[in-house]
Amino acid sequence: MDFKELIEIRRSVRGYKAAASKDDVAAVLTMAAQAPSWKNLQPARTYAVVSEEGVAKFARALPSFNRQSSAGAALLVTTFVKEQSGFSAGEPDNDGGDLWGAYDLGLRDAYLVLAASDMGFDTLIMGIRDADEIRNILNIPENEQIMSVIALGKRTAEPIARPRKPLDETVKFF
Ligand SMILES: Cc1cc2nc3c(=O)[nH]c(=O)nc-3n(C[C@H](O)[C@H](O)[C@H](O)COP(=O)(O)O)c2cc1C
Repeated sequence: MDFKELIEIRRSVRGYKAAASKDDVAAVLTMAAQAPSWKNLQPARTYAVVSEEGVAKFARALPSFNRQSSAGAALLVTTFVKEQSGFSAGEPDNDGGDLWGAYDLGLRDAYLVLAASDMGFDTLIMGIRDADEIRNILNIPENEQIMSVIALGKRTAEPIARPRKPLDETVKFF
């Protein structure tokens, strides 16, 4: 797919008719792994909930509106290993600290949602979730920061393109 078309087709989708399979998830994550990261440390981790029983068990980790929006899709919990990106010998390299881990994961997830769109899938990044419940359900170690849950499946309806701020509100040229 042409890159411009890919950017336009990628929207947050809140209605799914089919989930991505384990193989689909693996293909998307293989592409997403090409994202750059601090010293190529690749701190992003993913917990892919692809089975129907797994998704049902996961329900209590999402508020009802996100549960509804993602119903029918596979769910990818994305985390990053703390104190890796932006750290040397356990000390932060600069004022960013663990924000660099979040930066790396954000880049990885940007690749993820675009790779998914390129493969004919849709996504919804959900930051409103219960991290403690997720940690318990999936047994995620404490040294990982839980960030988003990403729904991955096929859209039932065309999403509306949300407006973007004009460039002069967000950019200063010097
Ligand atoms: C970090 C992050 C967290 C988000 N959390 C949620 C969420 O919990 N529920 C939801 O419906 N949308 C969520 N979104 C989707 C945004 O609302 C959406 O990306 C934005 O409105 C722009 O629309 P678009 O993605 O269709 O271009 C989140 C997006 C990001 C990047």
